[in-house]
Amino acid sequence: MTQSPDAWWSRAVFYQAYPRSFRDSNGDGVGDLDGVTDGLDYLARLGVDALWLNPVMVSPMADHGYDVADPRDVDPIFGGLDALDRLIEAAHARDIKITMDLVPNHTSSRHPWFEAALAAGPGSAQRERYVFREGSGDAGIHPPNNWVSVFGGPAWTRVVEPDGNPGEWYLHLFDPEQPDLNWENPEVFDDLEKTLRFWLERGVDGFRIDVAHGMSKPPGLPDMATTDLAMLSHDSQDPRFNHDGVHDIHRGIRTVVNDHPEAVTIGEIWVFDNEDFAKYLRPDELHLGFNFRLVRAEFDAIEVREAIENSLAAADLAGSPPTWTLSNHDVDREVSRYGGGEIGLARARAMALVMLALPGVVFVYNGEELGLPNVDLPDEVLQDPVWERSDRTERGRDGCRVPMPWSGEAPPFGFSSSPDTWLPMPPEWAALTVAKQDGVEGSTLEFFRRAIELRHGRTDLGTGVEWLATPTGVLAFRGPDGVTCLLNATDHPVPLSDEDVLISSAPLVRGDLPPNAAAWVS
Ligand code: GLC
Repeated sequence: MTQSPDAWWSRAVFYQAYPRSFRDSNGDGVGDLDGVTDGLDYLARLGVDALWLNPVMVSPMADHGYDVADPRDVDPIFGGLDALDRLIEAAHARDIKITMDLVPNHTSSRHPWFEAALAAGPGSAQRERYVFREGSGDAGIHPPNNWVSVFGGPAWTRVVEPDGNPGEWYLHLFDPEQPDLNWENPEVFDDLEKTLRFWLERGVDGFRIDVAHGMSKPPGLPDMATTDLAMLSHDSQDPRFNHDGVHDIHRGIRTVVNDHPEAVTIGEIWVFDNEDFAKYLRPDELHLGFNFRLVRAEFDAIEVREAIENSLAAADLAGSPPTWTLSNHDVDREVSRYGGGEIGLARARAMALVMLALPGVVFVYNGEELGLPNVDLPDEVLQDPVWERSDRTERGRDGCRVPMPWSGEAPPFGFSSSPDTWLPMPPEWAALTVAKQDGVEGSTLEFFRRAIELRHGRTDLGTGVEWLATPTGVLAFRGPDGVTCLLNATDHPVPLSDEDVLISSAPLVRGDLPPNAAAWVS
């Protein structure tokens, strides 16, 4: 490994707190930073090393914070800057690092820059901060190219010029409220540098970088070969992403971050070619990259093994620790992905044990440690822009963002003092609250606590894994410390011989590992 094997983050367990949904301290039904501070003892007990906070900057919340109107201030809904200072101090006192989400690809359409660009009109320096173009066709009535928004519909919106007539179009790879910045304009980097320094000087320990494979656009903005893509997806031929120019931007970011040698950068990189992925992790670019292969794998021994092998190969190419994640605020929760109900939960726990056995960096998404499933929400409460942008054909990501249940027998389950939470909480979560699981042997929460504790106790997780021969449907790999992780993805029990079981995701049945379960043995 060429990059800082001893750095604090190189084998950390990160906890992703979606601030709207973790805990609400002021009774407005929306989670906030003082809520996260209130939850720190819980997180310390879970054993996490660091938090990743989704964006908390000032935002009109068209995409719940990924539309930033002021990148150097905290939105009042999350408690303002003082609340962040309180959180950083309290987290550091418990040896927990704080990383924040940065959104460099786009701003909010309510950012003063974009408002100025609209007011200043075509040809102005203000418009040069974004990607404005003339339309195509007669009188520019069609968008400049065929690009589609990741959220659905065209990636271009036409503006009304200061003279009252329809005029130029601006690019937004996401919602129209998220205009893409023009990274050819040096002002854009200068402003990001200010933002990086602002947070680092406040004591933040690093950044998750949103759409880290975006930002740079190919010259001439060539058409996409196909626009018939599943929502929120793109392939390696897609001209909207992964343009080579992005690497200069990452080098620039790294130069600034290097002034704070302990700080980490983690890129959201939806790039599945290993060589391309590894480029983002060169020694002068990002420290870490999210690898999403495990999220995409079905609960199947071959698929899981392929995902692990591929992620390890990509990390190895890059000389950077691998990263592992089973869920986040953009994808269905794994309990539901793996089939829902008892089987889905059993499989999610099994996969958590697989993930926690792997070398490198692990990300746990809030609620994963409680075994929360996705929630089927009624149409009228949906808030994700994907819902409207897809003409109400795609429900979007709200189902994995429902607030955490803490205690009590009915919503809002101690999340808030207000029953009117920003997304409704299902009454059946009464069985899944922190209070219901705390101290209860066999609960998902106690299982996560123990697995994380054991992971921390394993001093040598190595940099790769040794695969062991197994029957079909079973996966087994051994770490350098001799601990073997077994996953039973068959429909029958698998004998464990007389090895010592350190932990299992489900109770053994007469010494056998039941279906949909995993164990660590030594
Ligand atoms: C990233 C975020 C997602 C957001 C998008 C636009 O993919 O994870 O939640 O909607 O970027 O900023």
